[in-house]
Amino acid sequence: MKKENTTQSAFGMIGLGTMGSNLLQNIADQGYDCAGYDNDTSKVDSLNNLNRDNIHGFSDINEFVKSLKSPKTVMLLVPAGKIVDTVIEELLKVMDQGDIIIDGGNSHFTDTERRYTDLEKKGFHFIGMGVSGGEEGARKGPSMMPGGDKKAYETIKPILEKIAAHVNGEPTVAYMGDRSAGHFVKMVHNGIEYALMQLISETYEVLKNGLHMDNDNIHTIFEKWNEGRLQSYLIEITRDIFAYKKKGTDTLLLDDIKDEAKAKGTGMWTSQAAMDLNLPIPIIDIAVSMRDLSKYKDLRTKAATLYPDSTEMQYHDKNDEHVTKLEHGFYFAMVSAYAQGMHLLYRANEEFNYNLNLDLIAKIWRGGCIIRSEFLEDIYAAYKKDSELKHLFLNDTVQRNLAASLPGIRSVVSNAALHGIATPAFSVALSYFDNFRSEEMPANLIQAQRDFFGSHTYELKGKEGTFHTEWEKPTS
Ligand code: 6PG
Repeated sequence: MKKENTTQSAFGMIGLGTMGSNLLQNIADQGYDCAGYDNDTSKVDSLNNLNRDNIHGFSDINEFVKSLKSPKTVMLLVPAGKIVDTVIEELLKVMDQGDIIIDGGNSHFTDTERRYTDLEKKGFHFIGMGVSGGEEGARKGPSMMPGGDKKAYETIKPILEKIAAHVNGEPTVAYMGDRSAGHFVKMVHNGIEYALMQLISETYEVLKNGLHMDNDNIHTIFEKWNEGRLQSYLIEITRDIFAYKKKGTDTLLLDDIKDEAKAKGTGMWTSQAAMDLNLPIPIIDIAVSMRDLSKYKDLRTKAATLYPDSTEMQYHDKNDEHVTKLEHGFYFAMVSAYAQGMHLLYRANEEFNYNLNLDLIAKIWRGGCIIRSEFLEDIYAAYKKDSELKHLFLNDTVQRNLAASLPGIRSVVSNAALHGIATPAFSVALSYFDNFRSEEMPANLIQAQRDFFGSHTYELKGKEGTFHTEWEKPTS
C-alpha cells in the first residue's frame, strides 16, 4: 500500500498517460516530490504502484491541488482542444491567484493566446509549453519550448532545466517568448518533423523501387548515413525499423504495415499558419498533402491499374554512385526543410511580436526532440553569428554546402521523374531553391493576367504607382 503524502509536492501533473507518467518519474528522479492526477483511476493506480516515495497519485482534484506547495505548479498533459479548457476551468476552482498552470500538450497557438490573456486577467500565471521527444524523451530528457509568463518560467526553470536533455552540458529548454510563442515554436518543430519524415520515406521509395534494393541494404545505407552529416534521431530510428524483424521470422514488421499515414494535425496547422502569413513553406505543405494522399488507398489502387508503370530505372548497376547522389540530395532537401521552418519563425516573430531568438530555438532543438540532428549545430552557429539572419540559405557555410549538394539533388529529382518514382518533397526542395535564387521570377506574367481579366492593376519596373491596361484594345 502506498504511503500517505505528508510532504508538499513541488510539481503537479494532470493527465497520467505514458507521457505524463514518464515526465513525473523524470522529475522525481531529480529529487523533487511530485503529484499526479487523472480522472481514470486505473492510471492513478499504475502511478501509485510504482511505489516511489516522492510520487503521489490522486483521483480527487481537490486533494491533488492541496498536496502542492505554493505557488502551486500544475502541468497539463491532456489531448489538445476542449479538454484543456475544461481542465483549466476545474483547476481555477481549486487553485489560487498567483499559481502557475502549464499546458504541455500540442495545443494550437491561437488557443494558447486566448488562454494566456484570459488567465492573466484572472491573476493566474500561464505557460504554453511544447514538449518534444515522445515517451522516451519524457522519461529521459525531452526538449521543451515554454512561452508565456516569464516570471512563472523563472520559478519553474530549475526543475525544467534538470529534467531536460542536455547537449554539451546545457539543457534543451529555454524561454521561447511571449504569450503563445512556445506552442508556435513547437508547431513549427512538428512541421519540420513532417517534412523530414516525408523525405526519409521518399528515400526509401527510391532505394526500394528505383534502385531495387532489399531491406538489408536499405538498413545498411541508413546506418551509414547516421554516422555522417545526416546523423539525426529520425534517420537513427529508420535504421532500426529496417532491422526490426517479426518475432521468429526473417521478415520485417515494416512490410506488414499499411501504407496509410495518420496525422494529429500539427503539420497541417503549420501550413495553415504559414499561408495566413503569406510565407512559403512548400516542403511542409507537400509532406502534409502526401500523408493525406496516402489515405486514398482505393483511388490509388484503381489508378495503379489504369496507369501501369511502364518505366524501369535502368541504372541499378551503378548503385553506389546513385546512393552518393541520394545522400547529397537528402542533405540539400533536409537543409531546405529546416530553412523553411526557420523562415516561418522569423516571419511569425515579426507579425506576433513574440521576441523569439532563433539561435536559442536551434540550440534547444539539438537534443531531446524528434528533429534533433547534427545539422542543427550549423543552424545554431548561423543564427548565433547573425541573430537577424533572414533566411538560412544566406548563411555562408550553408551556402557552400548547398552549392556542393546541388548536382546531387538535380540528379535524384530528374532520374526519379524520368523513371516514374514519386519524390515530391525532394522536387519541391529543388524548385523552391531555384525560385529562391531567381532575381527574376515569371510573376510579371501573373500580374499581367490579373490585370487582363480583372483590372487588378500592375506595377512597372522603375516607375512609381499602379497601372491598368485595356488589354483587348489595340495599342495603335
Ligand atoms: C514530438 C512529436 C509529437 C507528435 C507526434 C505525432 O515532438 O514529440 O512531434 O508531439 O505528437 O509526432 O504527430 P502526428 O500524429 O501529427 O504525426
